[in-house]
Amino acid sequence: MRMRKKKWADPWIAEHGDYIYEDPSAFKGKWRDLLNCEILHVEIGTGKGDYLNHMAAMYPNEGWVGIEKDRSAAAVAARKALEDENCDLHNKRMIVNRAEMMEEWFEENEIDIIHLNFSDPWPKKGTHKRRLSSKTFLDMYRKLLKDDGKIRMKTDNKDLFEDSVCYFTANGWMFEEFSVDYRREPHEEDAITEYEQRFLDLNQPIYQLCAIRCKENGDMVE
Ligand SMILES: C[S@@+](CC[C@H](N)C(=O)[O-])C[C@H]1O[C@@H](n2cnc3c(N)ncnc32)[C@H](O)[C@@H]1O
Repeated sequence: MRMRKKKWADPWIAEHGDYIYEDPSAFKGKWRDLLNCEILHVEIGTGKGDYLNHMAAMYPNEGWVGIEKDRSAAAVAARKALEDENCDLHNKRMIVNRAEMMEEWFEENEIDIIHLNFSDPWPKKGTHKRRLSSKTFLDMYRKLLKDDGKIRMKTDNKDLFEDSVCYFTANGWMFEEFSVDYRREPHEEDAITEYEQRFLDLNQPIYQLCAIRCKENGDMVE
C-alpha cells in the first residue's frame, strides 16, 4: 500500500541534507570513512525505516545506508531517526532516490551486504524487470558488492521469492541461507520490518534467503 503524500516531506528533506541525500555521489568510495565502519550495509526500499533504524542501533560498529525512492516514506524514516533523542546517527544515512542510480553513488566492490526487504512484487509479467532482484539489478549489485558480498532478501510473496531464486541461480549466485518460514525461529539478530510485522500478525510465512556473489564462472568466491 502506497503511503499518502506528505506535504511537509520536500521542505523537510531539503532542510536535512546532512542526513538524507538526493545525490550522494560525493561519497562514492568514501562511505566507510563517513560512517566510520568496516562493514557497509545498504538497504534498498527502506520504507518508513524501522529496519534501518533498528539494525543501525543493534550493530553500531557497522555502517547502514537506506535507499528509498518515495519521498514521503523516506522523510518519515529519516525524521524518526532525527527526532529520536536516543538515536545515534553516526553510522547511518539515507538516500532519497531510485536504486537504479546506485552506480553513481557507490564504487565497485564497496558494499558488503545489500538488503532487499519486502520489495515490490511487480506481479504482472511485463513489469518483472522492475523487480529489485531481477537480472539488471543483480548485474549492478555484483559490481558494487565486495568479492565476498551478499544479498539478504525477505518477502511474503511466494511468486516473487520463487522467481528470485531462479534469477539468482541463473545469474551465478549461491545460497548461504534459505527459508520458507524464516520467523518460525526467532532470529533476534535480524530486525522486523514494517511489512514483515503486518504479515507476522496475519500468521503468514516469511520467505528469506542470503545469496553470495560468485566469480564470473559460477565458482564461489574464496
Ligand atoms: C513494499 S515496501 C517495503 C518497505 C520496507 N522495506 C518494509 O519491509 O516494511 C517497498 C518499498 O521499496 C521502495 N522502492 C521500490 N522500488 C524502489 C527503487 N527502485 N528504489 C528505491 N526504493 C524503491 C518503495 O517506494 C517502497 O517504499
